[in-house]
Amino acid sequence: MNVVPHVQPQQTTENRQFPSAFLWGSATASYQIEGAADEGGRGRSIWDTFSHTPGKTLGGDTGDVADDHYHRWAEDVEHIRRLGLGAYRFSISWSRVQPGGSGDFNPEGIAFYSALVDALIAAGVKPVVTLYHWDLPQELEDEGGWTNRATAYAFAEYARRMAVELGDRIDVWTTLNEPWCSAYLGYGSGVHAPGRTEAEGALRAVHHLNLAHGLAGRAIRDVLGESVRLSVTLNLHVIRPADPTSEGDLDAVRQIDALANRAFLGPMLDGSYPADLLVDTAAVSDWSFVEEGDTQIANIGLDVLGINYYSTVQVRRVLDGGPVIARNDGHGAAAASPWIGVTDIEFVQQPGPYTAMGWNIEPAGMTELLLSVHRAYPDQQLMVTENGAAFHDEVGADGHVHDMDRVAYLHDHIDAVGQAIDAGADVRGYFAWSLLDNFEWGYGYDRRFGIIRVDYETLERTWKDSAFWYRSLAVSGRLPS
Ligand code: NOJ
Repeated sequence: MNVVPHVQPQQTTENRQFPSAFLWGSATASYQIEGAADEGGRGRSIWDTFSHTPGKTLGGDTGDVADDHYHRWAEDVEHIRRLGLGAYRFSISWSRVQPGGSGDFNPEGIAFYSALVDALIAAGVKPVVTLYHWDLPQELEDEGGWTNRATAYAFAEYARRMAVELGDRIDVWTTLNEPWCSAYLGYGSGVHAPGRTEAEGALRAVHHLNLAHGLAGRAIRDVLGESVRLSVTLNLHVIRPADPTSEGDLDAVRQIDALANRAFLGPMLDGSYPADLLVDTAAVSDWSFVEEGDTQIANIGLDVLGINYYSTVQVRRVLDGGPVIARNDGHGAAAASPWIGVTDIEFVQQPGPYTAMGWNIEPAGMTELLLSVHRAYPDQQLMVTENGAAFHDEVGADGHVHDMDRVAYLHDHIDAVGQAIDAGADVRGYFAWSLLDNFEWGYGYDRRFGIIRVDYETLERTWKDSAFWYRSLAVSGRLPS
């Protein structure tokens, strides 16, 4: 996939009206909000183990309590209803519904999600479910996790059971969230659970996640029929060359695009791995873990492709060789690189402004990304399943968070989505990340993405200004200038 290099979205000056069927939503993930880690028959996941390992998360934060959504879900659904959202994207904790990752299911865990889904529907909100948002049952990790082919088959069994239990109440079934992170941050750089730093293991994980996606999608269709809406969410990277006239830099873009984007789009949408990816990583692996027919299994066809977009990267081929010099790739400092097989590419520090994650704010990247996917796959429906920003919010003297920086970020990125639609991309919805402040993985509770503030002492929820702003957009479909 080549990211269109020269799109220059203009700031729209007039109000922009989105189509009436456009889905306005917000998103969360189980480990980031639920808490109740030892309740309701839940088994341990790799994020329990990782966050409880000293030095792995900022301040030693864990998801033990998080937003206590497990107990406050009804209140949270009420917030979603009052926000006027058409859809809510959440994930199921695999170890809550199947504590060991295989074998017995846990009726209490299933009942929790079933009640949540019913409440959303009663509130007029479409449930968009993600089956895997990074919290692998620990027992499966003990058997090798995503480096083990058997995990993909276990995932399909779990998906099948969820299809039986939740049935036609789900609007969109998403198999995986950001498998890039699961594979490369979990098994490559080790900044995410399970914290392994094995270059070949990361490639194995890539493949078994692709396989898991296909097996699970087929299982869901098997149970629910062809009318089901299947999806996957990818954090596709917008990669720009430091010097667009340099062949070396353009080739660096190609190499990172293969690892970040085409390693997933290839099997899932084309039914094969890109040849250049296999060549680039040949020193690390011969990919013999790919068995005949696997990539056809992965290629289930997607009813809608979910895209998460936050920021851009820029790369330069380093001519004098040596190890990767700087890695300002937005995924945190780590001893090991998530960029498997890369030895001579520098991630160039981007000009600001930045969010509290240190990510550059670049709305034009949203338009570029949506259009480049649209050009590569013209008939593919798309949905922005995450976009949003962490800022160091402050509670004002009036007790409110006047997060105008977040409002501006959302505004400009939603405008950029509108521009992609104008240019022909078939984008069906937008989900703000996140509904609530929550556990931001390695950064713990230090980074706040919510449009609703969570006081971590009292667990009280308070709408930030961005929530009021987003409600007016969700209700009217009109983006003010
Ligand atoms: C993507 C992930 O899906 C989500 O879990 C995370 O919190 C956001 N990005 C922000 O980093």
